[in-house]
Amino acid sequence: MMQERRLQPDAIPRHVAIIMDGNGRWAQDRGLSRIEGHRQGLEAVRAVIRAAHELGIEFVTLYAFSLENWNRPQDEVDELMRLLEHYLESELDEVIRNGIRVRSIGRRDRLPTSVLEKLEKAEQKTRENREMHLVFALSYGGRQEIVDAVRQLLRDAENGKLDPEALDEKTFAEYLYDPEIPDPDLLIRTGGESRVSNFLLWQIAYTEIFVTDVRWPDFRKDHLVEALRDYERRERRFGRTSAQVRS
Ligand code: FPP
Repeated sequence: MMQERRLQPDAIPRHVAIIMDGNGRWAQDRGLSRIEGHRQGLEAVRAVIRAAHELGIEFVTLYAFSLENWNRPQDEVDELMRLLEHYLESELDEVIRNGIRVRSIGRRDRLPTSVLEKLEKAEQKTRENREMHLVFALSYGGRQEIVDAVRQLLRDAENGKLDPEALDEKTFAEYLYDPEIPDPDLLIRTGGESRVSNFLLWQIAYTEIFVTDVRWPDFRKDHLVEALRDYERRERRFGRTSAQVRS
């Protein structure tokens, strides 16, 4: 609480993206199955979404399942899909009540029909909500997102809808999975490893990165506030000098 009071309202990041790592190790340390780590991870998801809403963060993107995660043992993949489905079903009412809009990025075609249905229902039912945007990166890969964008871009160039000479960063970004989502201001990674792991590669060009040793199942509001306090102290220069930024 003390910590929270000291946060400056104008220094709250608009978009926080999170790599939720360390579920497996959290479970292993307790002699539990990896799946139990993911179950506890879901509690952290609930707590963090509530906290982000309270703190006035506008966009939260969660790396819930990467394209590489499809290569995990089948029972772990199945359980992650079940958890996701459970979340989308059990939290929908609260999400609606809090004015949160559910969105997703990733290759949907690989998701099981039951997950896709629940995801589409959540997106549909919350599409008018504006209080906060909750983005699930699901079956997501940053390189693949860029490749998918380029593929569509080439089609449009071939059809004469896009002039290759006119292509700039802004036009390119319109081909990403959800161009309405602003670039993240802050990327949090739990579990202690300093890697980007194919997450939002285009979008994190100028994002501040915060890595914490806390494993995802233990991550709560206090840890989020700690990351925000660290962010508050950063000077975002976007390639300019410190003196330029200050003036
Ligand atoms: C990484 O931990 C985490 C994942 C691959 C999945 C994240 C999923 C959840 C938190 C649960 C469900 C999510 C939602 C959004 C409903 P890891 O297993 O790689 O951990 P390790 O590095 O310790 O092995």
